[in-house]
Amino acid sequence: MTAKVIDGKAFAARVRGEVATHVARLKAETGRTPGLAVVLVGEDPASQVYVGAKGKQTVEVGMASFEHRLPAETSEADLLALIDRLNRDPEVHGILVQLPLPPHMNSDLVINALDPAKDVDGFHISNVGRLGTGQKSMVPCTPLGCLMMLRDLHGSLSGLTAVVVGRSNIVGKPMAQLLLGDSCTVTIAHSRTRDLAAVCRTADILVAAVGRPEMIPGDWVKPGATVIDVGINRIERDGKKKLVGDVHYPSAAEVAGAITPVPGGVGPMTIACLLANTLTAFCRAEG
Ligand code: GUN
Repeated sequence: MTAKVIDGKAFAARVRGEVATHVARLKAETGRTPGLAVVLVGEDPASQVYVGAKGKQTVEVGMASFEHRLPAETSEADLLALIDRLNRDPEVHGILVQLPLPPHMNSDLVINALDPAKDVDGFHISNVGRLGTGQKSMVPCTPLGCLMMLRDLHGSLSGLTAVVVGRSNIVGKPMAQLLLGDSCTVTIAHSRTRDLAAVCRTADILVAAVGRPEMIPGDWVKPGATVIDVGINRIERDGKKKLVGDVHYPSAAEVAGAITPVPGGVGPMTIACLLANTLTAFCRAEG
């Protein structure tokens, strides 16, 4: 069996198209434009690439993009003052503070200073609690993108066995909450899980979010399962730089029913969902 390849790039383009259509209609009807503010502190090269991509795609769907690039030595008090200004700015409907922050800052404190209604990352403690209790919340973008692809593929996820490998606050835990919300039977596995191979083999839906290159081989995949690979690992092989996931793609694609490639799977969905979340925040604020 060769797995169906889930085209995240095409899916993300569709989501962005739907967001753009909705934004154009809102602008025509209300004269108002959804706005996303992105805050980057410091010069981390990977973060600069992400922030640039976010700004470009925000403008492409017709939203207003506000970029705040601050020097690495910015004080926490100055960052909190900026967040306070953005919280009160009626033109800003979503705020994203790019992580990681420099080591002299307390990320939890900064994230929890955001207005939860503008927290398009879904990282504020109030959004985490609301997701965990099934209340209306902002949902973290990467797991939301995974859920959208899974729903598109399966229709209902009810009753399926899902294994999430990885317990991060950004992906693993919210992914598990979302799958539970769709009535999956959910296991969160991690580096201390005993017989991880056997646990993975129970999964109808296997989500890998551990950040270890090609850690999950094909013989850990149940035949016909759907494999969602969140990993983006830069490796060097045969003298060439390469991007690989947390799943060993060639062997897993022989066994799985469907699989996301790396690159071109989950990755493109994250920014598309950020834009969808900004639209949601706008509609809740002004709708
Ligand atoms: N850094 C890496 N991924 C993310 C993300 O999803 N949101 C934010 N704010 N920072 C990140």
